[in-house]
Amino acid sequence: MAIEEKTLTNLSPERSINTRFTKPDVNRRLEDKKEILVIDQLKKVYPTAKGDYVVLDNLKLSVKQSEFISIIGHSGCGKSTLLTMIAGLNSISGGQISVDNEVVHGAGPDRAVVFQSPSLLPWLSTLDNVMLGVKQVFPHATKKQKLEICKYYLDKVGLGNDFNKKANTLSQGMQQRVGIARAFALKPKVLLLDEPFGMLDSLTRGELQDVLLEVWNKEQITAVMITHDVDESIFLADRVIMMTSGPYAKIGDELVIPFDRPRKRKEILDHPAYYDYRGYLMDFLNH
Ligand SMILES: Nc1ncnc2c1ncn2[C@@H]1O[C@H](COP(=O)(O)OP(=O)(O)OP(=O)(O)O)[C@@H](O)[C@H]1O
Ligand SMILES: [Mg+2]
Repeated sequence: MAIEEKTLTNLSPERSINTRFTKPDVNRRLEDKKEILVIDQLKKVYPTAKGDYVVLDNLKLSVKQSEFISIIGHSGCGKSTLLTMIAGLNSISGGQISVDNEVVHGAGPDRAVVFQSPSLLPWLSTLDNVMLGVKQVFPHATKKQKLEICKYYLDKVGLGNDFNKKANTLSQGMQQRVGIARAFALKPKVLLLDEPFGMLDSLTRGELQDVLLEVWNKEQITAVMITHDVDESIFLADRVIMMTSGPYAKIGDELVIPFDRPRKRKEILDHPAYYDYRGYLMDFLNH
C-alpha cells in the first residue's frame, strides 16, 4: 500500500495508535537492485564457563545494493555479534554470509565499519587517520589521488578546515565525523555501523545523522546500522530489521520505510505515517 493512501491525518501518537495500520511492503527505489549482502542460516555460539551459549540461530537476512537498513533489538540480543560477523571480525559458527557473491572469511576492504568510538590514532591528524586506511585500500593510487579522496570526505563531514588537527584534540562528535569520513573514503561495498552516535549528546547526534545521510545520499552505499534509537532507525533506513531477544536470536520482523530520498528531518517527522511506523517498532520492542 502506498503511504499516500493512508487515511491518518494527525500526528499525535496517542491518536494514531487507534488508526488502521497497514505495513508498507515495497520500496520502489530498490525494486531493480540486486542483493549484495546475503546472510543464510547464520549461527553464533560463544563457549562460556557454563557451556555453549547460542546467541544467534538460523538468522536469515538479505540486503539490496544501495539499501540502508537499521537493526534494532534489546540489549544483549546479538546485534554487535551479527555486525562483527558480517565485518569478518568474529568467527561464524554455522551458516554463511556473502557479500556480492563472495563468501565472507575474515575482514576485507569490501566492508568498512564505524563503531561507537572511532578508535583513531591520537597522535595523527584527521587527514592522516583517514589516509591510513586509504593507503591500504588504494595502494596504486597516486599520492595526489589519495589526498583528494581524504580531503573530499573530510570536507563532506564538515572537517574541511581541520585536516591537520591531531585526533587527540578533537571532540567526540568530531572524532566520529573522522570515523564516518574514513569509512566512506574506503569505498566499501557494505558500510557497517554499530551505534555510531550512541555516545553523543542528542544535538550532536542529530547533526551527525544529517551528515551521514548527506554523504550517503551521494554514494548510496549499502549500509547496515545498529541503533537503539527508534527515531534514528526510521529517519535513516529503507527498512528497519527487528531482532528477537536471545538466546537463539533471529530476525523477528521488519518494517519497510518507504519515504522518498533525499530525506529532510522535518518532512519525515511531519509525515502522516511516521507515528504509525514508530508505534509499530515500539510495540515490537515492548513485547
Ligand atoms: N566473546 C564473548 N563470549 C561470550 N559471550 C559473549 C561474547 N560476546 C558477546 N557475548 C554475549 O552474547 C550476547 C550478545 O552480545 P552482543 O554484544 O552481540 O549484544 P548487542 O545486541 O550488541 O547488545 P547491546 O545492544 O548492549 O550492544 C550477550 O549475551 C553477550 O553477553
Ligand atoms: Mg552492541
